[in-house]
Amino acid sequence: MAILELDDVSFTYGTHRVVDGLSLTLEEGEIGCLLGASGCGKTTVLRLIMGFERAHAGRILLRGEAVDDSRHHLPPEKRRIGMVFQDYALFPHLTVAGNIAFGLQEKSALAERQVARLLELVGLAGQGDKYPHELSGGQQQRVALARALAPRPHLMLLDEPFSNLDVELRERLSLEVRAILKEAGTAAILVTHDQHEAFAVADRVGVMRAGHIEQWDTPWNLYHRPATRHVADFVGEGAFLAGHIQADGRVATELGVLNGLLSTECDGASCALLPAGSPVEVLLRPDDVVHDDGAALRATILAKAFRGAEFLYTLELASGARVLSLVPSHHDHAIGEKIGIRLDTEHVVAFRHDPMAAA
Ligand SMILES: Nc1ncnc2c1ncn2[C@@H]1O[C@H](COP(=O)(O)OP(=O)(O)OP(=O)(O)O)[C@@H](O)[C@H]1O
Ligand SMILES: [Mg+2]
Repeated sequence: MAILELDDVSFTYGTHRVVDGLSLTLEEGEIGCLLGASGCGKTTVLRLIMGFERAHAGRILLRGEAVDDSRHHLPPEKRRIGMVFQDYALFPHLTVAGNIAFGLQEKSALAERQVARLLELVGLAGQGDKYPHELSGGQQQRVALARALAPRPHLMLLDEPFSNLDVELRERLSLEVRAILKEAGTAAILVTHDQHEAFAVADRVGVMRAGHIEQWDTPWNLYHRPATRHVADFVGEGAFLAGHIQADGRVATELGVLNGLLSTECDGASCALLPAGSPVEVLLRPDDVVHDDGAALRATILAKAFRGAEFLYTLELASGARVLSLVPSHHDHAIGEKIGIRLDTEHVVAFRHDPMAAA
């Protein structure tokens, strides 16, 4: 059963429509993520799910029950949703154990056992007597998570919970939080504008734009099968290579005829339905363009970025078009050098040629 459903939800601050026909479904135990630029409405969506705001249109269901529609509005404290914010907001005068126990109804031996169990779950066993100021930022955030998990919420909302932490800690903690939520079996929605974090933590990611979700999908599909050009641009790196539809429906480009066309957005129409000769743009990810000394195709290195295990080469093709290629870093070629490349794509995603986007 779906733990959470948003169905065509809209919300307006004054005249500003912040959430605009947004829909998503989260299954039991699943971790979803809202990914999007600052101000696109991510926090507002969490506030609607939490019940701090009421939708102006559409409906929200928790475990199949309407909690927000034109007739219902279940108050936040009845929704059994836990929340963790960016600033951990622990009570400084309470110990770690006191913070975690804060939301529990009973203050019995049972509660004590539960606090101990939660401390163990978040990797802080035996540290219940410490005060928040005695903990690192990452530890504090794990306490905040334990506190939110204590009342056994059906759903956890996390609003940029790691953004105050340094990159390394944040990567580690985001994986830990995923493990903790999975262990507890708690479904969650994480908000972030860091796609690496979204990919690492979430089962399903929604790319938000202008108050709605453009694609609600697995990280793999978002990267390799973006439904819209915006998603293709926003998620990951890549380049668009000009091509045209052949009579057989495949796409011809200067790197060859590409098989297995997966046509997605062409102003809503399928690219494969475009007449032969129609110009399209093919999305090529850096991992689609493989460096191969034996390849007949040659490209000139325009720029290179060292990433440790790999170089990201910016390559110029014969036509002047540019593509990116991710190459193991023992292939240390000089700028200006010509190297062999081939495509390694199991499918390609093509978009209707958009002169505006190309400009
Ligand atoms: N209380 C409010 N009154 C009026 N406008 C608001 C209010 N809260 C948010 N907004 C506006 O709604 C829009 C969405 O805000 P929201 O906080 O949901 O964005 P966000 O995606 O969470 O951004 P960020 O990544 O910066 O946290 C913004 O344009 C913001 O200015
Ligand atoms: Mg926000």
